[in-house]
Parts: sequence; C-alpha cells; structure tokens
Amino acid sequence: MTDLFSKFDPLIQQRETLLATGVTDPYNLVMEKVVSPTVAICNGRETILLGTYNYMGMTFDEDVIAAGKDALDKFGAGTTGSRVLNGTYQGHKECEEALKEFYAMDHAMVFSTGYQANLGIISTIAGKGDYVILDIDSHASIYDGCAMGNAEIVAFRHNDVEALEKRLKRLPAEAGKLVVLEGVYSMLGDVAPLKEMIRVSKEAGAMVLVDEAHSMGFIGEHGRGVAEAQGVLDDVDFVIGTFSKSVGTVGGFCVSNHPKFEILRLVCRPYVFTASLPPSVVATAATSIRKLMHGSNKRAHLWENSKLLHKGLRDLGFTLGTDEPQSAIIAVIMPDLEQGAMMWEALLEEGLYVNLARPPATPAGMTLLRCSLCAEHTTEQVGEILGRFERAGKRIGIIG
Ligand SMILES: Cc1ncc(COP(=O)(O)O)c(C=O)c1O
Repeated sequence: MTDLFSKFDPLIQQRETLLATGVTDPYNLVMEKVVSPTVAICNGRETILLGTYNYMGMTFDEDVIAAGKDALDKFGAGTTGSRVLNGTYQGHKECEEALKEFYAMDHAMVFSTGYQANLGIISTIAGKGDYVILDIDSHASIYDGCAMGNAEIVAFRHNDVEALEKRLKRLPAEAGKLVVLEGVYSMLGDVAPLKEMIRVSKEAGAMVLVDEAHSMGFIGEHGRGVAEAQGVLDDVDFVIGTFSKSVGTVGGFCVSNHPKFEILRLVCRPYVFTASLPPSVVATAATSIRKLMHGSNKRAHLWENSKLLHKGLRDLGFTLGTDEPQSAIIAVIMPDLEQGAMMWEALLEEGLYVNLARPPATPAGMTLLRCSLCAEHTTEQVGEILGRFERAGKRIGIIG
C-alpha cells in the first residue's frame, strides 16, 4: 500500500524541527476568553489582539448581538437546508437587501463563507475554454475557484499593470475572459492599482471580479472598498466579500449589476449544494452591514491607528511590507521562519497576539508577522503594542 500521507513528510519534518527548538506551536493557540474586539485571555494572560480581521470591531457591537439573539429565539439554531430548498429565511433576504444598499448594486447573493463565494462565482462563470487572468498572489479561494471551473489560469506579476496588459493581449480576442483582482492583498497589506488594471481589462473585453475581503467597511467613502476609493466601482462586474472580517461574523457574498445575475442561484454548486447560514448569523451580518454604512468616524480612527503603528514600527527599525500604510494590515518581515516563530512567541509572552504567516500563504517565501488593526484599538493600546514590539524585538535580536 502506498501511504497517501507520504506527500506531507517534508512539512511534518519542518514542523518537528521547529517545535524541537522549544518554541510554542504558533498554529495551536486557544483563546480561552474573548473580552472585547481587542482583548482576549490566552495562556491565562490578558492579550491585546492584533491578528484578527475584526477591522471595524463589530463582533461585540450591542445591536449586532441583540439581532443575533432575537433571530436565534425566533427562527432557531439553523436552517438545515440549501438556499434553493428550505434554507432561505426572511433573514437571508434581509441580508441581501442590506448588501444591495451598502454597495448600491442591483443583485446580492449570500454564501456560507467568502471562500465559497469565490469558489462558486469563479467556477460557475469561467468554465472550460475560458480564461481567468489573476494576480499571482491571489487568495487560495480564487485559485480553487479556477481549478473547480477548469478555466485556463493566466497569472501575472503582483500588482503589475503592464504584465496584466501583456497577458491580456496574448489571449484570443473572442475567448471568454475574467480578470480577478483583490482590493487589498492580505499578506503585505498593499492595495491594487485597480483603476489602471480595470481600464486595461475592459479594453481587452474582459469581465472584472474584485475581491474586497480586506477593504469592505474600511476603505472608500462609504466603506465599499478599494474600487470605490479609486472611483471605478461602476466598472467592476462582480464584487466578492466576506462577513468574517469587517462585518464581524461569518459568511460570504457577491454583488453585481449584471442583468442575468440571478440565474447563478440555480447553477452555482457551492451555493446550491450546501446548507445556508444560520438565522442568527444572517441577522448579525445584516445589522452589522447597515451600521457600517454610517461608520465614517470609526474608519477615520482606524486610519489613524494604521498610520501610528506603521510609523512606530518603522522608527523602531523593523522591515515592513509597505513603505506607507495602505490598509489596516501592517506586515513585519522576519528574517526566517525560526526567528519569526521566536518573535511571535516573545510577543505572546508580552501579551500581544499577531499572525505568523509563512509560505505557501506568503509571497516570495517570506515569513511575516501580520498585524491587523481594529477601529476599537485605542491610541493608548497602539502605544502599548509598540512597546511590546520593541521589548520582544530586542530580546530576539530582530532590532538593535
Ligand atoms: C482575499 C480573501 N478572499 C476570501 C477569503 C475567504 O473568506 P472567508 O473567511 O469568509 O471564507 C479570505 C479569507 O481570508 C481572503 O483573505
């Protein structure tokens, strides 16, 4: 018998080598208690959270929680069915109405996760013989959507408009083409030049899908994302998003003005062949989305936090993923996985949680300590965070 697990041996070996150094397993942390959007108890210690995607701090919003409790009481714990059978409740429709209003678009389709939204939309609209042209650093759910649909994948260099244009020009004029972009790339926290990319895509006759997972709620005047901030939202054919970040719960969606959009509800397998979100989840999502429409003060504070942390870390001598803060994500580049894990552990001992990110999730084989800020972090907390980075960085020898 061939052991089907033998392909994992290199990873098992790398993991064992890392853990043999005595470092805490960075992928096995338990949040024993969550006190607020920015504080949890980990290993019995009060810890500032700087590695969640809770950008707008909606997880503990009292209206959001009340809506969830009410739906749980009135509609029960789950739908036990697909959206196309018994799994569409009033709450799912209200959630889609909230999304249509939030984006000022004609259609909205809610999925059980953002991963399934990308998987479903990409695989359904781009099939065999079609081309998906994507940034090489695209999220796994985008690549998996391409694989599921069997489209030809054409990757271009990260955020390189010229490379995108060249790839598009080489494709047959009559072929179906979908360009897939992200507003904010979550590993380095950098923003895509959507305006130019969408222009060259449209000139080549391609449809455009933008995943705004890490920008919804925060970037753009109404929090609609990078396409809104760059004035090109009207040229985007499909916006993909998630409820697991700024919205503060779980779920995914696609919004669009395409006149035939609704047919997707019958042909999109990751929408049809899975159970719909529980009533409490869609109720929390709808309430959160409606509140995010009026979140400009919170957005302004989050920008302040992002600028403060970026400058503070750079002044301390850390190497960062972007020259300027471009989003709520600030990536600190580590020399290698071992030192990254040591620094991650030292920060945890200081009472600070960040994400340790490593290949294949990261570009160019980088090990990153990914910091994601929340609109609920106070200015004092950002000061605390910098102090903890300084002490841990000096102890591990990452900074002098
Ligand atoms: C760019 C991007 N798209 C989609 C997703 C998937 O979202 P979800 O957590 O809702 O499955 C993520 C999650 O990290 C993401 O970063």
